[in-house]
Amino acid sequence: MEKIFPSRVPKNSRCLITGASGFIGSHLAAALAAAGNEVACLVRSSSRTDFLSSLPVRLVSGDCRDRGSLRAAVSGADYIFHLAGAISAVDRKTYFDVNAGGTKNLVEACLEWNPALRRLVYVSSIAAAGPSPRGHSVSETAECSPVSDYGRSKLEAELVVRGIGNALPWVIVRPPNVLGPRQKELDESIELLRLRIRPLVGRKSSRTSIIGVWDLVRALLLVAGDDRAIGRTYFVTDGTPVSWRDITAAVARAAGMSGFYLPVPFPVQYAAAAVAEWIARWRKRTPPFTREHVVAARKHDWVYDPGAILSDLGFRGEMDLTGVAAQTIAARSHKGTGVTVQLERTNGHG
Ligand SMILES: NC(=O)c1ccc[n+]([C@@H]2O[C@H](COP(=O)([O-])OP(=O)(O)OC[C@H]3O[C@@H](n4cnc5c(N)ncnc54)[C@H](OP(=O)(O)O)[C@@H]3O)[C@@H](O)[C@H]2O)c1
Repeated sequence: MEKIFPSRVPKNSRCLITGASGFIGSHLAAALAAAGNEVACLVRSSSRTDFLSSLPVRLVSGDCRDRGSLRAAVSGADYIFHLAGAISAVDRKTYFDVNAGGTKNLVEACLEWNPALRRLVYVSSIAAAGPSPRGHSVSETAECSPVSDYGRSKLEAELVVRGIGNALPWVIVRPPNVLGPRQKELDESIELLRLRIRPLVGRKSSRTSIIGVWDLVRALLLVAGDDRAIGRTYFVTDGTPVSWRDITAAVARAAGMSGFYLPVPFPVQYAAAAVAEWIARWRKRTPPFTREHVVAARKHDWVYDPGAILSDLGFRGEMDLTGVAAQTIAARSHKGTGVTVQLERTNGHG
């Protein structure tokens, strides 16, 4: 399985990725390295680096919560992709320390030690914008009303990035639920499906936007290399909202798993999340999911309009849910990065 990524980031660029040991960052690292760039990945001593070790990338130590530790990483980078973040935490403080405080530290480090940076790409989230009204999609011009500590901390990080003004060329990308290989929740639901257990996440009628991780990486490469993206904020979705149940059904179909599944209703999910948080607090770990996640999926719709990045840069998601589910299942038994990157002509925008 070979993915083709058109890229406007010029070959041999020095790229730094924060959050490269995570799900999305690892795919981005593979794509940037395959394009012939010098890729540095910010990692902590506790980061799992087994996948990154298989790539031609350099590991640089640092923690976003410690500004001084970012100096070596940011110095000399042409492009910085800031993906490091807390998605699942047991308390508000962790979300704000990592997402908002970590972004502030990175921005200050760039301003002080790398004022010639060509692009800072910040990966925010739809959670910063808040849920969508029933039956409508939200565009980038809508007022933000986050409903979770995660969302509020991502919005605060966005404000820090916008506060850069013209001092550095920045762009903000807000993905919805990102699906693909190495995504923890997807891996967990595949394991549950194998046990014939199917969590009934959300209501039947609730809808969420999605994006395949390969499409998101394509979008990140595009906004990094195109000057028309500077100072803009973009939702990046595949344009087709689905229900949470559609996602597990697509994964089950792709894995050839049919038959009876034990449904897990909301109260049981909520109780399981409370237990997961309690265990995580006790073991000083990240919970796999939280009560905030379970409630957000049940109570709200999360549907966003991908029109701005389409009209500004011509970006359109190419893979739908069925395609992403099939490729995710296929990739579970596939070794290697499976990516090829084609450099696009920059048309003077790179
Ligand atoms: N996955 C989605 O569906 C989704 C949707 C919208 C937005 N996003 C955003 O996309 C970004 C990446 O998400 P993901 O799904 O790839 O997350 P992930 O798999 O949980 O990875 C998070 C990454 O952030 C790093 N990190 C956490 N705290 C850090 C710190 N203090 N200093 C340096 N690095 C730190 C982690 O490093 P360790 O390995 O050391 O823990 C890891 O590499 C996040 O900012 C998230 O908010 C994700």
